[in-house]
This record gives sequence, C-alpha cells and structure tokens, in this order.
Amino acid sequence: MNVSELYHDAPRTSAGIAVFMEAAVREGRIPSDDLLPPVRTLAESLEVSPATVASAYRRLKLRGVVVTDGRRGTRVSATPPLAHPFARPVPPGVRDLSSGNPDPALLPSIAAALSEMPDEPILYGHDAHDARLIQLARDGFDADGISSDAMAIVGGALDGLERVLRVHLAPGDRVGLEDPGWRSVYHLIASLNLIPVPVPIDDDGPLPDALQRVLQSGLDALIVTPRAQNPTGAALERGRASELERMVSVHPDLLLIEDDHAGPVSGSPYESMVGEGREKWAVIRSMSKSFGPDLRVALMAGDAASIARVEVRRLLGPGWVSHILQRTVAHIWSDPTTPSL
Ligand SMILES: Cc1ncc(COP(=O)(O)O)c(C=O)c1O
Repeated sequence: MNVSELYHDAPRTSAGIAVFMEAAVREGRIPSDDLLPPVRTLAESLEVSPATVASAYRRLKLRGVVVTDGRRGTRVSATPPLAHPFARPVPPGVRDLSSGNPDPALLPSIAAALSEMPDEPILYGHDAHDARLIQLARDGFDADGISSDAMAIVGGALDGLERVLRVHLAPGDRVGLEDPGWRSVYHLIASLNLIPVPVPIDDDGPLPDALQRVLQSGLDALIVTPRAQNPTGAALERGRASELERMVSVHPDLLLIEDDHAGPVSGSPYESMVGEGREKWAVIRSMSKSFGPDLRVALMAGDAASIARVEVRRLLGPGWVSHILQRTVAHIWSDPTTPSL
C-alpha cells in the first residue's frame, strides 16, 4: 500500500496522526521494523506542515512505538509495546522451556496455607511486608552471601526488574542483556524506551571479553540471570562470577540487577557478581518457579537507595503485594514437606 492510500483517513493534527499510526501498528497494517515515510513525504501527502508530522513521530518515539534509525530515518520498533508478545510456536517434537512454566505436579498445594489464613483485615497503613516472609527471605539471602539490609517485596521478577529500572534509568539509557536472553526482558526494555545492548553468554554466564567491550562503550544497567538462564539454562560459574564482579566493580554508576527468577529450584548454587559495597544493585528472587507463578511474589534485596525508591514508588501504585499472597508464600516456604517436592 502506498503512503497516500495507507494514510488517506489519517487526522491532520500531530496527536491525531500519532494515534492513527499507533492503531495501524497495533492492527498490523504497518508491520514492526517497517521504515516510516520521510517526514516531508507524509506531510505532503496529508497536506500538513512537516512540523506536524515530525511532532507525531516524536510522540510515537516517546511511546516506544517507533525508533529513529540514524540517517536511515524512523522505523517501527521491532517490539512495539502494543500487544502481548506471544511466543512463536515451536516445531513438532521440540520441548518449549522458554515459557518458564514450572511442572504443576511439582508445585506445593496452597489449600493448607489458605485454610490457615488469619481472619483479620489488613487496612491501609499496615506494614507493607509480612514479617515472617521477610525473615525467610533474609535467611535465604544471607545464606547466599547477599546483603539483606534493605529488602522489598514485589509482584514477581519482571515487576521487580521494571521497578528498579524505572527508578534509575531514563529513555535512551543503555541496558546490557544476555544474548540469547529471555524475550520478555527484551520487550520490557523496548517498552521503557531503553536501548538493549546484547552481551553474549556461554554455559558459565556472560563472556568476559564481550562484557568488557560493552562496559567500555557505556552501559547504565546490566541484567544477569545467575542461574536457570532463559533460554539456555546456563548458570554463573564461581570463577566467572568473580572475574565479572571485578570487571563491574570499576563501574560504580552501573545498576547491576540479578534476576534469580528460579531461585533454588534451578538446581545450581547462587553465584553473584554483586561485590561488597556495590552502590547500585538489586537481586530479585522470585517465588514463581518454586511455588507457582500465580502467587506473584518476589523478594528484592538491594542497596538502601534503590530499595527505598522502589518502595516509595510502589506505595503510589498498587501500594503493596497483598498480604494474602505474602502469607501464603511464607506458609508454603516454612512447611517442612515443601523441600521434598
Ligand atoms: C529469566 C526470567 N526472568 C523472569 C521471569 C518471570 O518471573 P516472574 O513470574 O517472577 O515475573 C521468567 C519467567 O520464566 C524468566 O524466564
């Protein structure tokens, strides 16, 4: 379809053009990665000023729908934040592990936890954290040598990733991501208008030479999956973790995030790149894989400033993670029969 046909019904204001184009991307009439017409071409076709079209493109860029591609122009983002990014079907005979779903047969029952739920209401102003869950989280972090001085409870690992990224980064900031990596984290980065910087990995974690190059080219944050890496299953090996820890220690401004989405059920010990005294860091340990993704609970340890910012911002949104969920997790976690699953 040519420009005049495609944009025939588009409104003539900058806001209207942006809404029209967003709908066209959402409905697939303009495919992802497609190069948009040059500003002047579209302006002539719509009989509006180039400033109007340029302003529409700016609005779309702020929403993460389009990206500017240097002198080549403006194109639709490869992952516009407009629809749920469904997984591609896998070929017959291939087992798809990338959804990250645990085996339901191995999940603990939540019935007992629910039947023991205290029947007293939790009101506004109540402590956001369940004390028993915080203690269990603290014991777990301490056992892995992760400082638990500051902790937050968030609605899953992905929620935690978004929250800590948002309190530190601004659109255009660069985030190192494992390559290959979990597709949702790539989509999250695109939807926040951050720039993904791929860091190749092998079975022992991010490749030191590659990370060094990326750090030298400038990085604002780095997200690493220390175990049960998605999609490869890799886990940080102790020697590699120490080497990478030394490497990032000379970049104190870097926000280092460890996504421990599978926790102990990954089957690998926890090896961390977070060194003593690191300024900006977060380790997010989700309960989704061990106790079930519907519980939407993850524990986040981090430096005091990052955790305080995440907490304050969450108070202004959902407020807290429901105590019904927190208590359920604490109950299952302390149930002596759970580890045998
Ligand atoms: C690497 C990685 N991080 C995070 C998640 C999501 O965890 P949560 O359910 O706690 O948001 C997944 C899900 O499979 C994952 O593979």
